[in-house]
This record gives sequence, C-alpha cells and structure tokens, in this order.
Amino acid sequence: MGREYIISPSILTADFSKIKRIIDVFHKCGIKWLHLDIMDGHFVPNLTFGFPILRSLRKITNMFFDTHLMISNPYEYIDRYIEVGADLITVHYEAVPRKMLQKIISKVKSYGKKVGISIKPKTPASALYPYLKEIDLALIMTVEPGFGGQKFIFSVLPKIKLVRERISRSGLSCDIEVDGGVNFETIRLVYDAGANVFVVGNALFSGRSVANNIKKIKRMLNM
Ligand code: DX5
Ligand code: ZN
Repeated sequence: MGREYIISPSILTADFSKIKRIIDVFHKCGIKWLHLDIMDGHFVPNLTFGFPILRSLRKITNMFFDTHLMISNPYEYIDRYIEVGADLITVHYEAVPRKMLQKIISKVKSYGKKVGISIKPKTPASALYPYLKEIDLALIMTVEPGFGGQKFIFSVLPKIKLVRERISRSGLSCDIEVDGGVNFETIRLVYDAGANVFVVGNALFSGRSVANNIKKIKRMLNM
C-alpha cells in the first residue's frame, strides 16, 4: 500500500445541468473533497461561479468544500464563503500583499476552518516556506490559473519535491495539493514528487463514465 491521498474533483468543466447526478457518483465512489474554482475576471481572465452555487451544492452534499479563490481581494469575501459552506479556503500568494496573507490566515482560522496558499507555475517554491507552519494546505498550480482542460506544466514537478522536503524536514503536517492538467498520465508523477491532494477536472469528465475515470485515477495511484 502506498501513501494516503485525497482526490478533489474540480467541477469547473462539468455539465452543471447534471450536477446532482455527478455529485452522487462522487458519493458512491467514496470521494470526500470537492474542488470549487472561484474566478473573478480580474486576478484571472475568466469568471465562474460564486456564493449561490456553493449554497445550492451544500444542500445536496456534505463533501469537504475545497474552495480555490482565484480572486484579487479574497480577504473581503472570507466570511461569505464560510457562510455558504467552505471548509478550506485557499488564496493566491500573487493576489495580495504579504501582510494581507497573514490577516487572511488568521481570519479563516478564527472560524475553525482550514486555510491554504496557492502559487502559480512561475512563483518559486520558497514563496510558500514562511507560511508552511501556519497553513493547512499548499496548493501548487501546474497550469496558469484561469481555465480547465489545459496541459500540465512538467517543469513545476521539482517545486513539489522542494515543498515536500521542506514540510518533512520541519516535521509539519501541511497537505500539498496539485491543480491543473492532472490526468491518468500525470497523476503518478505528481504523487511521486510528494503531493497528497490531487485536483482532477477535465480527466474525470472526458470519455463515457465519471465513475470509470475515478477508478482509473485510483488505479494509477495504487500501482
Ligand atoms: C484552473 C483551476 C483548476 C483546473 C482543474 O484555474 O484552478 O482547478 O480547472 O481542471 P483540469 O484538471 O481540467 O486542469
Ligand atoms: Zn483549482
């Protein structure tokens, strides 16, 4: 048996007219996390969904809401994301000044919720180091944030290793999540580099069956 891991499906490219059915498949397959990509058309050149959709999703599932905020002013919206059901709030290192990151961490924690920091592909691993002691999750992007279905950027792999080494050496328990282009071919590389939370979007919704795709992804990890 290998290390423990978490699959966090991103529903960004899902057909929302079938969302209830898709969530039920996740339940049946034992998927515990749901990755929610929030975009503001400012920090990233795309818009997605916000509070009303999370509130509606909360009515149909108790899954752990892994909320990835790709927005310019996350601090202002923390209360409302928590109110609509976020369990983990991850903000982008590049979106806010350093002092603000500290305020965000304290605010999310004051609610008893989990907090994460994400870095884009060109941001060095060292940007995360000062925060690893305080945060629950480090999210390392393997595509430029903004769109689902992009190609995995292989040159990010050494960064995952660096962050894992840092966490292990310091005896910390911070999770490492990887997001972007994670599919049947790339997931094993990400796992071997040291990540333990895998965001999978497009790869789950291509082909005929979401359930089969989940099985296939798990097979890649259990090899
Ligand atoms: C990109 C998002 C991701 C992404 C995942 O900005 O944060 O969550 O859409 O989807 P795939 O697996 O299709 O890259
Ligand atoms: Zn994401």
